[in-house]
Amino acid sequence: MPTRINPCSYLPRRLQIVASLTAFVLFCILFLGTSSSDTTVDPYLNQVPFAKQIQSGAHQVVDNLPSLPKDLPYMNTPQWLNPFRGPAHTPPPEQANSSSGEARWYSDFKWRNPFSSSVTLDEERAVLPPLKERPPVYTYFDATGRRKDDKSKKAEQDLLQIWRRAWWAQGFKPVVLGRPEAMNNPQYRAVQTLELEPELDMEMMRWLAWGNMGTGILCNWLAVPMAAHDDPLLTFLRRGEYPALVRYEGLDNGLFVGGKEEIDKALKAAVNNPAVKRVKSMVEAVPSGTFEVDPAHDGVAFYSTATITAKYISIKEKLEDPETIGDGMAMLPPLINSHLHMTWQNTFTSGIAVLKPLPEHTTALIEPAIDIARNLSQCSETPIPASCPPNRPRCKPCVSSQMLISLPPVFRNTSTLFTIGTVPHSYTLTSLIHSRDELNLKFIRRETSRDAWILAATKELLGTGLSSFARLVNMKEAVASDYGSSRSLWLTAERPPSVSSEKDLEELDWTFGFQLPRSPMPNGHSETPVPGPERRPPPPKQEFGDGPVPSEADLAKEKTLLEKARLFVSKGGRTGDKAFVRTRDVVEAWNLADTEAWKFVRAWNARRRVERRRWEEEEEEFSKGLFHKWIDAIT
Ligand SMILES: *[C@@H]1O[C@H](CO)[C@@H](O)[C@H](O)[C@H]1NC(C)=O
Ligand SMILES: *[C@@H]1O[C@H](CO)[C@@H](O)[C@H](O)[C@H]1NC(C)=O
Ligand SMILES: *[C@@H]1O[C@H](CO)[C@@H](O)[C@H](O)[C@H]1NC(C)=O
Repeated sequence: MPTRINPCSYLPRRLQIVASLTAFVLFCILFLGTSSSDTTVDPYLNQVPFAKQIQSGAHQVVDNLPSLPKDLPYMNTPQWLNPFRGPAHTPPPEQANSSSGEARWYSDFKWRNPFSSSVTLDEERAVLPPLKERPPVYTYFDATGRRKDDKSKKAEQDLLQIWRRAWWAQGFKPVVLGRPEAMNNPQYRAVQTLELEPELDMEMMRWLAWGNMGTGILCNWLAVPMAAHDDPLLTFLRRGEYPALVRYEGLDNGLFVGGKEEIDKALKAAVNNPAVKRVKSMVEAVPSGTFEVDPAHDGVAFYSTATITAKYISIKEKLEDPETIGDGMAMLPPLINSHLHMTWQNTFTSGIAVLKPLPEHTTALIEPAIDIARNLSQCSETPIPASCPPNRPRCKPCVSSQMLISLPPVFRNTSTLFTIGTVPHSYTLTSLIHSRDELNLKFIRRETSRDAWILAATKELLGTGLSSFARLVNMKEAVASDYGSSRSLWLTAERPPSVSSEKDLEELDWTFGFQLPRSPMPNGHSETPVPGPERRPPPPKQEFGDGPVPSEADLAKEKTLLEKARLFVSKGGRTGDKAFVRTRDVVEAWNLADTEAWKFVRAWNARRRVERRRWEEEEEEFSKGLFHKWIDAIT
């Protein structure tokens, strides 16, 4: 019997050929397939027989081949590993405003690709989903002829801010219009020559300003979206297509949608109506049939005078007395803000999950997330504690039900659970897991396991069999899909929102659509005494999640390590110091999936900040002109 040296010879002859070929191709990919740009490979990495590329290449191939799901339609290999890469591939062009600090991104439909670099050909540039178009929602604000006491003026400005923030957070572009827009409408003169009742005159001005802007949503600035992100009315409005002129039963003139032509037509019809001088609203001024009426909806709350009179008696009483109008107005902003907050709390009946994978080492890491969770579960200050918003009379007031905070070690995809995740840079995580403040290549390669964070975080969702790379798709979905992004907030461990930065806190407010409670105790000067439950809730009982309770010394050590790692991760990039960058590159190459997740979240948050700041800049000029000019002119 011949000796069998070749292990493949146990196989039938055809398979032998296939197996040998496979082995050969694998060998080629691993050892010959590095890209030409590697002539500048870091000498430090070359000291070891496994250069950075081959090292992670082997990781990639070994990890992926057995478990790659058959239907994974994505190209799953980083560029340098792809032997078929043609010279025609060039990095996609930079998009406008696509960087902030170290974070850079590229918005594209291919964002579900596990590795951004296979699209951008750039390790630092993350692929994010295309930015959603924000349909404009217009409101009309005219300060002339309004009450002029300081309290009322301040309250009106606060209300406009609440209105803008709430619509922005729901995916719209709120726009405040004024007299100049109305005057710009060609039909303005025709309206001016009619001598209208003051109510209709005001209403016509709103419509003229709206018509001047064209297709969109016309909204009173006391009407705010008060519902979950996937509410049917809000979903319809977000689509940005309004085939008919629609008004909403029960909202009076709080909300209209329509296309430019229909708006113009309705205005013309009103102007030509011989009875126009006797009516008080647009709805009466136009022929019946002009509007479609939506009878059933509850996504928008309108704090109209009628509603306030019927539901919020203590405010109504103040508004009726000329002496206390200012006080009454000043009660509205906290009332509406608390209703927005409470509606959010009512949406997430399963509470808030502060994600804590690897709980033995990450207590310090998730502290900023716990802080946010506690503030979110707290009750907002309000002049009428047990009240409900006008559109949800059967709400659960915050004072009567405390929101639950849990610390699961795994991500759970529950529709009624809000998740706050903290993604650490691999350097930070490695340093915490091994209680070391200095990492070197040898240690990383010999002593550390790869992609510990994503493997732990998705263990329940995806089981244990899947490679870390295949998990990235779900991770990115959880962060950035429509479904995921409205149910989660993701932070990077190295740059959590700083509680001492007004800008960071404001950013959170605009993300959630209401101002988060920021003071543990209610304001002592508040007129209505605020009951006990409004105090800040204690930290979650199971503060340490599934992990052991760390001793004070351990916790202190964790904090020190975290501080050092934060400095390291940010400093490495800023100084360009070779030693820093080298170590960071090695850790990143060893943990490709964790690094991808971290860069994705960093870019996701940076883009959100940039989007809003850019819009604020655009708006600033406008609002400066609008408010200051007018308010100065009339005072
Ligand atoms: C964003 O892009 C616009 C136009 O491309 C440019 O005018 C503006 O300065 C950019 N803003 C920032 C903050 O980079
Ligand atoms: C979570 O569940 C929703 C709906 O069941 C699904 O569409 C989504 O893809 C899931 N997300 C993740 C990250 O698995
Ligand atoms: C949470 O509330 C505390 C006081 O209760 C405040 O110091 C902190 O800045 C708040 N944090 C956030 C993120 O709002």
